[in-house]
Amino acid sequence: MEYLEEMFSLTGRTAVVSGGAGAIGTVMSDALLRAGANVVVWSRTDKSLEHFLKRYRDNDDLSTRLSTAVVDAGDEDDVERALSAATEHFTMPEILVNGVGGNRGKRSFIDIEIKEFTEVVNLNLIAGLVVPTKVFCRHWIERSVPGSIINLTSMTSYTPLSGVWAYDAAKSAVLNLTMAAANEFAAHHIRVNAIAPGFFLGKQNKSLLIDKKSGDYTERGRAVINRTPFKRFGAVQELAGATVFLANNKASGFITGVSIPVDGGYLIHNI
Ligand SMILES: NC(=O)c1ccc[n+]([C@@H]2O[C@H](COP(=O)([O-])OP(=O)(O)OC[C@H]3O[C@@H](n4cnc5c(N)ncnc54)[C@H](O)[C@@H]3O)[C@@H](O)[C@H]2O)c1
Repeated sequence: MEYLEEMFSLTGRTAVVSGGAGAIGTVMSDALLRAGANVVVWSRTDKSLEHFLKRYRDNDDLSTRLSTAVVDAGDEDDVERALSAATEHFTMPEILVNGVGGNRGKRSFIDIEIKEFTEVVNLNLIAGLVVPTKVFCRHWIERSVPGSIINLTSMTSYTPLSGVWAYDAAKSAVLNLTMAAANEFAAHHIRVNAIAPGFFLGKQNKSLLIDKKSGDYTERGRAVINRTPFKRFGAVQELAGATVFLANNKASGFITGVSIPVDGGYLIHNI
């Protein structure tokens, strides 16, 4: 146990999970919490935070190491204020999970709505990476904190998915900036990595993958399953291990600039 403790324990560390009340953020927050970290969950609405906190109502050990705040991750002043509050509440966060993001709909290129396109890029790239990374890294450099950032990439970061143009653009940029930021901040012992979830059934993609009426796979759903060597969608809990691994400087201290696919082999060309 001592070895595992030393390798993976996050006791005494503080993590901020931006978008931490979302489907994937919830699992990542929970993983960090159970690995011993103090966890600060940021979300845009009180309602999502209330819902998130319910699962810890009867667990004093975990809930004393948990704090939440309504924050707009795309607003620099808001992020500054929330980072300072998190530091005051626990200790200076050393782990940042950029879990804000998501897709909206599917359409042909000539039907792109520029307003929607811009919103998706802002959500995934500006709120989902640029603003929190800028604010955290500025503080980490000033205080010589060897921070660890975990971004959320996607299968679209590697090869485009059809009809989700803004999401394709934003997520490929998230992968690019994960590598670029890793290079920029390496001199300060700050690591920047990502997790690329494959296909997990969630609110954002369920209607694209499962037919509402019949409950069968849609054509797109079938195409995904056919391309996935494990022949199933993922369960979000399967993201917990990669989260703890990347967060911990002992377990992954020489790893930076990578994106770990958790995808049942989807990215393998398996024909
Ligand atoms: N679900 C999947 O299958 C999947 C697959 C690949 C990648 N991803 C990526 O993983 C990340 C999380 O996805 P998810 O399915 O958990 O999405 P989600 O919508 O369930 O969670 C995102 C959370 O971020 C919050 N949020 C949105 N804008 C915010 C802002 N400006 N400031 C603070 N909070 C904000 C939302 O309220 C929500 O709670 C996203 O980047 C997504 O693109 C998801």
